[in-house]
Amino acid sequence: MKKILVINGPSLNMLGIREPEIYGTATFSELEESIRNWASELGVEVKLFQSNHEGAIIDEIQAAYGKFDGIVINPAGYTHTSVAIPDAIKAVGIPAVEVHISDVDNREDFRRISYVRSACIATIKGKGFPGYREALEILSR
Ligand code: DQA
Repeated sequence: MKKILVINGPSLNMLGIREPEIYGTATFSELEESIRNWASELGVEVKLFQSNHEGAIIDEIQAAYGKFDGIVINPAGYTHTSVAIPDAIKAVGIPAVEVHISDVDNREDFRRISYVRSACIATIKGKGFPGYREALEILSR
């Protein structure tokens, strides 16, 4: 069974409360529950990880080396600022898919820049929570 690490970055733990007009009213625990259900449908094992800290995200990516077959990552605000996160993904060489709940290309200009994209095999954006399902599907193939 393939093992997939799902990483959510800063303030995604605030889903449900955070800017509901952009991210919806469903909560972070509902997202986690959906991800677990999709994983079992697709026959993959998942580990869920959320952190507000860039270094903690990098530590988690490094710890995945030799242990996981894929990474689903929504780096949240770090998407547009972090060079160190894509560097860590490239370092471990694990196939990764970038997910954004909102359509980052149709918001503020600064959200069009994604450093993580260069380390990912696919990007899914603007599909809400089901975007995570699509990412799991890509990595389960
Ligand atoms: C986000 C989009 C980012 O621009 C933003 O900083 C987030 C969430 C999304 O899932 O739509 O925190 O990654």
